[in-house]
Parts: sequence; C-alpha cells; structure tokens
Amino acid sequence: LANGLASAPPMGWNSWNHFACDGNGEDVIRETADALVSTGLAAAGYKYVNIDDCWAEPQRDSKGNLVANKKTFPNGIKALADYVHSKGLKLGIYSDAGFKTCAKVQPGSLGHEEQDAKTFASWGVDYLKYDNCNNGDLKPLERGDMHPAKWGAAYGNSWRTTNDIADTWESMVSRADENEVWADYARPGGWNDPDMLEVGNGGMTNDEYIVHFSVWAISKAPLIIGCDVRHMSQETYDILANKEVIAVNQDPLGIQGKKVRMEGSNEVWAAPLSGYRTAVVLLNRHATEAAVITAHWDDVGLPAGTAVEARDLWQHKTVGGGGAGGEFTDKITLDVAPHSCRMLLLKPLLSSRAN
Ligand code: DGJ
Repeated sequence: LANGLASAPPMGWNSWNHFACDGNGEDVIRETADALVSTGLAAAGYKYVNIDDCWAEPQRDSKGNLVANKKTFPNGIKALADYVHSKGLKLGIYSDAGFKTCAKVQPGSLGHEEQDAKTFASWGVDYLKYDNCNNGDLKPLERGDMHPAKWGAAYGNSWRTTNDIADTWESMVSRADENEVWADYARPGGWNDPDMLEVGNGGMTNDEYIVHFSVWAISKAPLIIGCDVRHMSQETYDILANKEVIAVNQDPLGIQGKKVRMEGSNEVWAAPLSGYRTAVVLLNRHATEAAVITAHWDDVGLPAGTAVEARDLWQHKTVGGGGAGGEFTDKITLDVAPHSCRMLLLKPLLSSRAN
C-alpha cells in the first residue's frame, strides 16, 4: 500500500501465538512493551505491540461502537496506546471482515468498517490486523477467490499467504514453502506474510527456531514475535536479536528470497541484497542425518568467477577454508546438522573484478 509505511517488513510482537484468548489483557501488553524496551528488542527494530483477537466486549455500545473488554482492558485502548507510545513503540489492534471475529467472542467489523476505523484512529492505534472469519461466505469485494498476494498490496502493507502456523517443525517449514511461491509479489510497502514467529514458544529445538528465523528473514516476512518476551530464555533472545539476520530482512532492496535448489532434503535459499551482496540459507530438512550442502553461484544469482567473502550470520564470523585470500569462487560448501541451517552473507571482493 502506497501509504509511506513498511518500506521494510514490519517488526514487532503479537499476543496470539502465545496467549491466544487467554491472558491477553492490558497488563500483559504493558509489560510486553516494557520488556521490548528493557531487553533491547525495541532497539533491534521491534516497534509494534499488537493486540490480537479477544480484546473487545461481546456487544457494541448503544451507538454501535466497539468497546474494550471491561475485565481485561479496564482502562481502555486509548490509555494503552498512550502508554505504548510513551515507550517509543506503536500499538496494533485486530478486527475481522465478518459478523464476529474468528474466536467468536467479539463483533467483527462487517457493516461497521468506517466506524471502527475511526474508533481505532481516535484511540491512537497505529496498525490494524484484519482477519477474515464468519463473513457469511462473502467474497472479498470484486476479487473473487483470488489469492491475497494478488490483491493485498492495494489494501495493506502485508497479507497472509498461508493458514495458521503451529509451534512445530512440520508446520513451520510448510508455511515457509506455501509463502515462497508468492515471492514475486513482495516489495517495499507490501509483504507476503507466512504468519507470526513461534520462536521461544517451546515446541521446536533451538536449531529449528534458528531455521524458522533465518527463513522468515530471507523471505522478507514480517518479523512479529509470538512468545512471552517477559520471560524468554537467553537462547530465544539471541535468535530474535540477531542484528545481522535482521539486517537481511530489513535490506532496502526488499527482494524476497527464493528456494533456488532442492536435492532430497537439502535446500538452498537465496536473496539479492543491496551493495551487490547476496544472502544464502543452506537448509537441511532431514530429521536425523547431517548434510553437506553447496550453494552454486549459478543458483544464487552471482556471475561466474565472482570471488566473495562469506560471513556466517549465526557464528558472527567470516567462513574459513576458502582460497588463498579466504575467498570463495563459484560455490561454497558447508556442513549442516539435521533440522538446521547455515545463513551466509556473500560479499563480492573488488579484486575479483580485475580481469
Ligand atoms: C486467525 C489468524 O490467522 C490468527 O493469526 C489469529 O488472528 C486468529 N485468527 C484469532 O482468532
């Protein structure tokens, strides 16, 4: 959407993946805003604090306005927005294009679109997630059954390309695959969304969460944290706050990475970055066997003969074992543990252009 927002994929937190409808109240939102700032995640780029489903009273008021749930949000959304803004962050909210939202405990915005938009604006809300449940089988107007990737950019800054993620390896890699096929529709201002992050929710190993974050980053997916950041482990923080991986996601070129080679359970994902650099993920999808995976320049989009320096974005160091000057030319081959990945930044060496 050409509203000047989301020149890079949105970054923030959302209540759904951890709390769903349970415990999603103003205390949690406030404490989450506090934790984003105190841990350094806000400084790393996570700016949006987004309330998902189950925040409103079951009935509109006598004027038809949505009302915050009196038990869980007793001070109302405006006060919460003021608090979140005072921390230098932004507040997001949720509604739905139907009679009720997906959880069915509050009204949707169907027939009240303009009224609800004005309500959210009057509260100082910065971001809206708009769901699509319980709409009585109405099709998105004039768009028929077209996939959201084909029309989302006219209406929003990101759109879901998949069903809901669950906190399992199978669900996570499936969402990644379903999202990948729409890569050509992503660009600054409008991003494909394979759903929010499960990193830190406990259903995957640390290596699997590193795969999750690496693939979301190279896919230019919105990085919306879904764990309880008030009580996260150091391992979780180290994934979510990896500045080098975040920089790949936020790169100004805004080109979504693609799967450029598949051989059995071995995959190579690649994305061009600004400054003639290339991001690469070497992904081993096998559950028990280590793999040796090669990224060929042909596949990742580098001209033949290009010599690069390869930086490992999880080990935070230059990869050794290249040519005399440490360089890699035409390919790079690395060991990758089961259900793990290596994420690399390939940077051309100027000397390789001499002849
Ligand atoms: C479906 C969405 O895909 C989820 O992310 C979440 O917003 C739920 N609805 C809420 O009911």
